[in-house]
Amino acid sequence: MTFRERLRALPTIPRPGLPALDPEAAPATPHELFVTWIDEAIDAGVLLPQAAILSTADTAGHVHARTLLLKDVTADGWWFASQSTGPKGRDLAANPHAALTFLWPVLGRQVKVTGSAAPAGPEASRADFLARSDLSRATGLVNHQSEPLASQEEYVGAFAEALRAVTADPELVAPDWTAYVLTPTEVEFWQAPDNGPQTRLRYVVGAGGWTSGLLWP
Ligand SMILES: Cc1cc2nc3c(=O)[nH]c(=O)nc-3n(C[C@H](O)[C@H](O)[C@H](O)COP(=O)(O)O)c2cc1C
Repeated sequence: MTFRERLRALPTIPRPGLPALDPEAAPATPHELFVTWIDEAIDAGVLLPQAAILSTADTAGHVHARTLLLKDVTADGWWFASQSTGPKGRDLAANPHAALTFLWPVLGRQVKVTGSAAPAGPEASRADFLARSDLSRATGLVNHQSEPLASQEEYVGAFAEALRAVTADPELVAPDWTAYVLTPTEVEFWQAPDNGPQTRLRYVVGAGGWTSGLLWP
C-alpha cells in the first residue's frame, strides 16, 4: 500500500452512536453550548478536551498556528495564557484577529471560535501564572520561547535555574506571562452525522446580541 492509500484507508469519525446537534434546542449563547459540549467531551474520556489550535496572523497576512490549553470561558470570551514575547504574542499585539479550533473526534465534534484576542490585564495574568504547578511556572519563566536553541543542555540549565527561582519564591511571576481573552464575533459548532446529514450551527454576535443559524455542510 502506498502512503496515499494508507491515508485513504484510515477510518474517519466513528459512528453510529454519535450525539445529535438539535438547532431548535440550542441555547441562546455559544458560551452555554460550548460548556455543555466540553463537559460531554470530558465525560466521553476525550484526551485533552481543553486543547485547541490557536491561529493568528501577522500584519503581512502570514498565518501561524499552534496548540494551547483553554483556561476558562466567561461572558468575556475564551481564555488562554502564554508568554507575550513569542510569535503568538507578537502576532496578537499587531493584529488581534484570532481563532481557536477544538476537535473532539470520538464525539464527531469541532468548534471554531473566531474573534479578537487581547491581554486580560496584569491581575489575570498573575493569577494564571500562580495557579500553575512549579514545573509549569518554571517553563513559563524561561525566556526566549520559540527562538533558536544552540543545545538541549543550554535549556536544561536555564530550566533548572528557573525551577530553583520559582520554588524559592512562590509569589514569583514571569514578567511576560500573559492571560489572553478571545472575544468571539462568531462561534461555529460542527456535528458529524450519526445517521443523516452533518450539522453546522453558527452563532454570530450583533447589536442585539447572539443569533444562530445553520450553514451548508
Ligand atoms: C497539548 C499542548 C498544550 C500546550 N499548551 C500551551 C499553553 O497553554 N500555552 C502556551 O504558550 N503554549 C502551549 N503549548 C506550546 C505551543 O503549542 C507552542 O509550541 C508555544 O506556545 C510557542 O508558540 P509560538 O511560537 O507560536 O508563539 C502547548 C503545546 C501542546 C502540544
